[in-house]
Amino acid sequence: MNNATPWWSSEVFWKKTAIWVTGSMFVVLIILTLDSIPKITAGSERVPAYSVINKHIDYKFNDERNIQVPLIGGEDPLFGKMLSEEEAEALVSYGKKITQGRNCMGCHTLLGNGSYFAPDLTKAWLDPGWSSEEEREEMMIAFLMDPVENARSFGSGRMMPNLHLSRGEAMAVVAFLKWMSSIDTNGFPYNFTVIDKEG
Ligand code: HEC
Repeated sequence: MNNATPWWSSEVFWKKTAIWVTGSMFVVLIILTLDSIPKITAGSERVPAYSVINKHIDYKFNDERNIQVPLIGGEDPLFGKMLSEEEAEALVSYGKKITQGRNCMGCHTLLGNGSYFAPDLTKAWLDPGWSSEEEREEMMIAFLMDPVENARSFGSGRMMPNLHLSRGEAMAVVAFLKWMSSIDTNGFPYNFTVIDKEG
């Protein structure tokens, strides 16, 4: 025993501390993961099931939480067709794969992840740039199939290049964006204005 070295500066103490801290943080990480999974799964309180694309999705200011929150309304099937949970999931995940495969996040953000060249797409379904709820579906499809010819103003002052999406691909992207807009993102993106309502 070296009397000159107090217990708190001995190598053995710090080795044990390192093992305990790493071990306990690993346990905390597992607990947090198990706690998060149900909260981010489609069909949970904040992330609606895919079949939400059969419903009307709105965005309302919530005084209590002091943020905009999604408001899921009555039936309003996308492209006029009610889909089963499985069909809706297949369409939304096809749309998601297109956004990944075409690297939309090279310019855009989704839930805040991606690049800052173009607007965040999380609430794009509700964007006033689609002029009215009646025309929105067709306008989104036309824009996605040829954003140069069908350019609209989303306030970025930039242009989106034509990525030559087919009609089927554009429809799936619209389904994906409609589903995304139903997610309660705790008010993100902040200060987002939504499409005008009739009356
Ligand atoms: C090279 C950059 C670039 C890529 C890649 C790109 N976009 Fe865009 N996109 C833009 C820009 C810029 C705008 C904004 C145009 C404006 O402000 O008028 C835009 C606008 C949009 C809008 C309207 C935004 C809103 O607020 O409603 C949608 C929807 C959209 N893009 C979807 C996509 C999808 C889906 C993909 C992938 C298939 C994609 N974009 C890939 C640049 C890009």
